[in-house]
Amino acid sequence: MRVSSFKSMFLLVGVLSVSAAASAADAKGPAGDPKAGKAIFENSCLLCHGATGKGDGPAAAAFNPKPMAFGDAAKMSKISDETRVKAVTEGGASVGASPLMPAFKDTLSKQQILDVLAYIRKTFGH
Ligand code: HEC
Repeated sequence: MRVSSFKSMFLLVGVLSVSAAASAADAKGPAGDPKAGKAIFENSCLLCHGATGKGDGPAAAAFNPKPMAFGDAAKMSKISDETRVKAVTEGGASVGASPLMPAFKDTLSKQQILDVLAYIRKTFGH
């Protein structure tokens, strides 16, 4: 009896420390590398979203609505990390944004998508 309650106590401590580690990882947001994301941004996003976070890249004039302005705190603060990943993976229409936001699931890996989103957050602040 004593031995088995000691065992279950030990198990409980193990489970608690695993879940504490998991929530610490969540708090950091998606695991992207902003350094790796820079070139991806320049190659795949800048044309529409622009270099300055205003949604005014060389191709943006033709768009209505305009590509998301990543520097716009009011807009970006409403878009969760999950929604950002989904928008880039499956395209704007999948999250209720413009279908002119392309899907990158065939051109970028999951890690590259996390990297470019980390770069955007770091560079434009939101
Ligand atoms: C062909 C032009 C184009 C390219 C290239 C493009 N986007 Fe977009 N993006 C858009 C448009 C248009 C919107 C929609 C704005 C809206 O609906 O208000 C958008 C919206 C977004 C949003 C916001 C989605 C939401 O939930 O509202 C994110 C995040 C985003 N783009 C990320 C990216 C990333 C990252 C890349 C590069 C990997 C990229 N985009 C490349 C045009 C583009």
